Amino acid sequence: MALKQHKDDRVRFDQQVDNSRSYVLPFIEATHKLGGGVNVLEIGCGEGGVLLPFAEKGCYCVGVDLNPKRIDLANDMLKDEVQQKKMEFLLKNVYDEDFLARFKDFFDVIVLKDTIEHIPDQEKFVPYLKNFLRPGGQIFFGFPPWYMPFGGHQQICEGKLVSKLPYYHILPKGLYKAILKMAGESEGVITDLMEVWDTQISIERFERIIKHSNLKVLKKQHFLINPIYKYKFGLQPRKQWGPVTYLYGLRNFLTTCVYYTVG
Ligand SMILES: C[S@@+](CC[C@H](N)C(=O)[O-])C[C@H]1O[C@@H](n2cnc3c(N)ncnc32)[C@H](O)[C@@H]1O
Repeated sequence: MALKQHKDDRVRFDQQVDNSRSYVLPFIEATHKLGGGVNVLEIGCGEGGVLLPFAEKGCYCVGVDLNPKRIDLANDMLKDEVQQKKMEFLLKNVYDEDFLARFKDFFDVIVLKDTIEHIPDQEKFVPYLKNFLRPGGQIFFGFPPWYMPFGGHQQICEGKLVSKLPYYHILPKGLYKAILKMAGESEGVITDLMEVWDTQISIERFERIIKHSNLKVLKKQHFLINPIYKYKFGLQPRKQWGPVTYLYGLRNFLTTCVYYTVG
């Protein structure tokens, strides 16, 4: 069944803030100083909660998203920070010329948290991000690998069975879609899930894209239990067992989340 945070904007926002403060920000801070004078961009910012801890540190934060409702929520939830010009939230496509013109070579840190798996043509997208980085800038990616038990994001389904069933998202697209339709899932949910099906980002493909983009991995962490599962399922976050992280291919099935900082 769809989880509470899928329906309650405030719950989702609070979870974004807490997860960012406890996991995302400390991970990025291990390789990049954060504070006054540091510009941070989050692509796929949703309600903006991930960025709040960065703004509290003194960073200037810009969030972009293609979803108008979520950008409105971000502007509302963070209206004080927006008014004080510490943050701004834009309904924008980063490929727009005016976005590139304004923010070329502007950011020290770019954050993509649970977003890269929604973005098509990652081979083109990742190298394009370099346009926005200042010299020495870094990009953070946090995402669930496609082959992990819920890599299709099927937990957003309304139906009890289809939202709790692991691994069936790796079926052929037509069959997967037919199961979702038979289970009575809405067109909106099915469209979202097909978008994730089309991108299918594995650990190996991600690392290949980083290499081909002439970026270097500065820090990485694989998780057996995704830190965000603390809020979703009440599970304690757990790092992946070292030897599993070297099991090419197989590790995808056993790793619910990966964090990378590249630069
Ligand atoms: C799963 S949400 C993640 C939100 C937030 N980063 C978090 O961690 O809670 C993914 C977000 O990416 C946005 N998104 C998808 N494709 C995008 C694109 N091409 N450009 C900007 N945002 C995009 C979606 O609208 C959605 O709000």
